[in-house]
Amino acid sequence: MTNKLKYFIGNWKMFGVFNSFKIINKINKYCYNSRNLHNKKIVLCVPNTLLDFFSKKLKSKYISLGSQSCHYHEGYGPFTGSVSAFMLKKIGSEYIILGHSENRREGDTYDLLRKKVISALNQKLNIIFCIGETLSEKNKKKTHNILRKQIKDSLSKKFNYKKIIFAYEPVWSIGTNKIPKINELRETIKFIKKESKKIFKNKNLKVLYGGSVNPKNIRSFSSVAEIDGFLIGGASQSSKKFIDIIKNYYK
Ligand code: PGA
Repeated sequence: MTNKLKYFIGNWKMFGVFNSFKIINKINKYCYNSRNLHNKKIVLCVPNTLLDFFSKKLKSKYISLGSQSCHYHEGYGPFTGSVSAFMLKKIGSEYIILGHSENRREGDTYDLLRKKVISALNQKLNIIFCIGETLSEKNKKKTHNILRKQIKDSLSKKFNYKKIIFAYEPVWSIGTNKIPKINELRETIKFIKKESKKIFKNKNLKVLYGGSVNPKNIRSFSSVAEIDGFLIGGASQSSKKFIDIIKNYYK
């Protein structure tokens, strides 16, 4: 089994209260007890309401905390209901998910996303930049065109590539229990790496897979060496499922 660094990133979405810290606590204990941590990076992206509380409780070097989206404006401003990257960084966020299809659906355009990426980079947040095609785009064989546009229209060669990780999340696989065919997935991950190399002057960027990852199907992804890790939604809301995903990946 590979010794390359793999990311296991949980996306809690709109889930959790203070008491949900017990989930993170169990994952933390698993990390503490497991010997092989040098090749794994574990991140939990939780709602903003929990970041401060969790980051104070989590005195752990095994797990990092992240947030989910932010306003494009830096610092403070007259934006009712919004939170900036600066504010998220201040309360313990090290990572941030941007470009998730659920946010694109609610109005995150390519241009808005570029501004959000800039403000997150200014705060030195690590960005998990989600891209992916819808089912109808896939059926029309537009996957590559869509992914290229999502990358090119929001990212620029001026950006610090070390702070950007891609997450390939086909929209049709999110929360549906459907996953891509392994050969197709391998080709798509390679395509994303090739396209990002064009922008970032031959630098190797990490590409994760996300969409219905669970303890049962995780084994099927281990054969794709090009995948640098996983963005896990629903299954990250259970410590058992999240831990089983990690364990089964290395079985
Ligand atoms: P899922 O979500 O694992 O529940 O399909 C993944 C995501 O939306 O990041």
